[in-house]
Amino acid sequence: MLINFLANQSFVLENCVIFGVFDDKILSKDAENFSKNYNNLLEYVINKQNFKGDFEEVVSIPVNHPIIDQIILIGLGKKEEINPITTRKIGAKITTLLSKIKNESVSVDLSVIHKADFPNSVAMSYVAEGISLRDWDFDKYKTKKKSEKLVKNIKILTSNSEQSEYLYNQLSAGVEGNKLTRHVVSEPPNVIYPESMAEEAKKLEHLGVRVEVLGIKEMTKLGMNALLGVGQGSTKESRLVVMQWLGDEDKKEAPLAIVGKGVTFDTGGISIKPSNNMEDMKYDMAGSGVVLGLLKTLALRKARVNVVGIMGLAENMPSGSAQRPADVVVSMSGQTIEVVNTDAEGRLVLADAIWYTQDRFKPKAIIDLATLTGAITVALGFEYAGLFSNNDELANRLFDSGLAVDEPVWRLPMGKNYDKDIDSDIADVKNVGSGRGAGSITAAQFLQRFVNDVPWVHLDIAGMAWDKKGKPLTGKGATGFGVRLLDEFLRKHYG
Ligand code: BES
Ligand code: ZN
Ligand code: ZN
Repeated sequence: MLINFLANQSFVLENCVIFGVFDDKILSKDAENFSKNYNNLLEYVINKQNFKGDFEEVVSIPVNHPIIDQIILIGLGKKEEINPITTRKIGAKITTLLSKIKNESVSVDLSVIHKADFPNSVAMSYVAEGISLRDWDFDKYKTKKKSEKLVKNIKILTSNSEQSEYLYNQLSAGVEGNKLTRHVVSEPPNVIYPESMAEEAKKLEHLGVRVEVLGIKEMTKLGMNALLGVGQGSTKESRLVVMQWLGDEDKKEAPLAIVGKGVTFDTGGISIKPSNNMEDMKYDMAGSGVVLGLLKTLALRKARVNVVGIMGLAENMPSGSAQRPADVVVSMSGQTIEVVNTDAEGRLVLADAIWYTQDRFKPKAIIDLATLTGAITVALGFEYAGLFSNNDELANRLFDSGLAVDEPVWRLPMGKNYDKDIDSDIADVKNVGSGRGAGSITAAQFLQRFVNDVPWVHLDIAGMAWDKKGKPLTGKGATGFGVRLLDEFLRKHYG
């Protein structure tokens, strides 16, 4: 899709014209004028078809006009409920509508959207964001594509094209990062594995991202035995990727660090998973996918902030060389870990990745993202990511950013009594709790043992990284959840 903004002064003639209508059924000026010339066609259709202007209600009207083929009325619902979230959804709805029609040139007139605290020019940037977010699918491996994809030209009327363009430029960096995340998460595990993920990171160098890749040798030297243990059963070698976007005027200013779990396939290892749905475990690298996408976003919008992105990459396979349940490993921190269950591998990867990050970069804050536990979907379903933190301010800021971009997070408790549950009889800590409950919390407690005195947030995105039913903004499959959340958080608080 090609999106352009046009200051709304005069009616734009295109093959397909989309008018937004609230439930008050008041038409925009252009819609009204057009209708007048056509025997009050729009009012007639609204009455005849009982169009109520409900949110996302659609009526399509073929017209006999030298240029316009069809007019689409899209319901906007209640005026007081229009906000960034609902306008993005309208944008996404427009994309799904357009995917079903052949018209190449489209004009979108949502000029009825204007409120004192939500000017039309701002609203139209969010509409464009929604259009663009929804305009993505993964058909790389289809030899017969669904339909020949036409690049559609979309003209969005706006009260101020410069303002809409400026804001949309910022937002579209987040959309591009989100799409990169969705891409790598959708790729199969024979294509995306630790080394090839590292190659994906290298591709960001031309945007100004510094990329370093640590192999087995370097990680062994650093003592990252927790991470290495996870990958030791696989023929694919583990990697740790360090990406740096230094956008602050002072390149020495302490960075914010984002750390992602990148288990490129999680069979469970010797504690092997049942075969049912095991294929889902290709998205067990989604946390690292978000780190990759976010670094792209920051580079695209030339964010004025220093950020390090760390991807801990390993493939969890069963084999003769795989780690055993009962193995004890010495992590980079020096703490010993009893590996009771080889399927609780994400925390082992993160233990070393987090330790390395704080040790080397002394960051202002660490945020990790991981598809860490199935238990988080028992607690929160597929509506919120779980948030765990040692810092209320950081937790609250991320909560607010989640609401702003419609990638919501919900905080869960941590505490000493949960922590006791992971004490090991023979080592410092074990990688699963003794009790049955609170699986996501004990996982977070495990991570916290590797976090020193630094503000830290852990986001368990196991329920949010992939969607089987289809989300309004991102459809089915990989969602890229986390990129826009962290971009908003960084933009708002750091630049
Ligand atoms: N990758 C899984 C968690 C997961 C489950 C992600 C479903 C996405 C969807 C993780 O490595 C895992 O296997 N966790 C175990 C932990 C258990 C062994 C304590 C789980 O959730 O069952
Ligand atoms: Zn696992
Ligand atoms: Zn896993």
